[in-house]
Amino acid sequence: MAEQRVASSGLTRVAIVTGAGSGIGRATAELFAARGHFVVAVDLTDDALAWVADMADVADVADIVPFAGDVADDVTAATMVSIAIDRWGRLDAAVLNAGIVGGPGFEEPGALERFDRMIAVNVRSIVSGIRHCAPAMRRSGGGAIVATASTSGLGGDRGNWAYNASKAAVINLVRAAAMDYGSQGIRINAVAPGPTETGMTVGLQRMPALHAAMLRRVPLQRWGQPSELAEAIWFLASPAASFIHGVLLPVDGGLSANAGHYDPPELPAANLADPG
Ligand SMILES: NC(=O)c1ccc[n+]([C@@H]2O[C@H](COP(=O)([O-])OP(=O)(O)OC[C@H]3O[C@@H](n4cnc5c(N)ncnc54)[C@H](O)[C@@H]3O)[C@@H](O)[C@H]2O)c1
Repeated sequence: MAEQRVASSGLTRVAIVTGAGSGIGRATAELFAARGHFVVAVDLTDDALAWVADMADVADVADIVPFAGDVADDVTAATMVSIAIDRWGRLDAAVLNAGIVGGPGFEEPGALERFDRMIAVNVRSIVSGIRHCAPAMRRSGGGAIVATASTSGLGGDRGNWAYNASKAAVINLVRAAAMDYGSQGIRINAVAPGPTETGMTVGLQRMPALHAAMLRRVPLQRWGQPSELAEAIWFLASPAASFIHGVLLPVDGGLSANAGHYDPPELPAANLADPG
């Protein structure tokens, strides 16, 4: 975007969102921009961020700058912060959301290499994000960081140990970082999405038996939408959450409240009809 626009509020608030090419990250970047933030939208490729160009002419949307980089690389975090500071002079919020799912069986060839990659993308990226965002937030008078964890970090799923382990690490990393940064005016929290309809879960959505089995475990009896995660992230990053620090907020239709001792064999048809 060539021209910088001024948020309609007249107040410059600046946010970074990683994994902004799709799903929860894209919905979050769009929401922050629609509510007056200047946004650095980060994803792996320029193609993933092509949607940003379409926002150029949308009225009442503050500026969004795309930046292609791999969050597993510490340079990406350094650069995304530099973009925010060079362009707008401050940083108020960082949504460290990029992640990958899947993973090998324990005994598969290459399991350790794939695990290392998952940890680098899902966990080390949060460390990089905090390391580089926090100094800029201190200079801005404080800030808020929100990491995307997962209900998968609360326990185990068969065949999903690498992802389960990575998201469990995110949850406690956020708690630990909150201990270090609270006194510096930087709040750090996490959201734990349950099953959410995004690019990441397209495959699952197309497997009727698995989809239905997952649905049965969600008390609200539907999957979440990216916009519902974006609203929770917005809240945690906003002044409305000014005394909320070091928490994991499940945004999961009640999945994590389910003791999991049994799944009802089928849902009443009425519950499947309305996602509202
Ligand atoms: N969709 C779900 O059901 C669900 C549930 C729990 C947690 N989550 C978490 O939510 C977050 C967002 O996932 P989503 O569901 O929106 O998935 P998504 O695949 O739709 O979006 C994730 C985005 O992250 C980007 N990304 C992946 N690796 C990257 C890297 N190394 N560097 C930069 N960008 C990278 C992808 O290109 C993609 O655009 C992830 O951390 C995911 O683990 C999702």
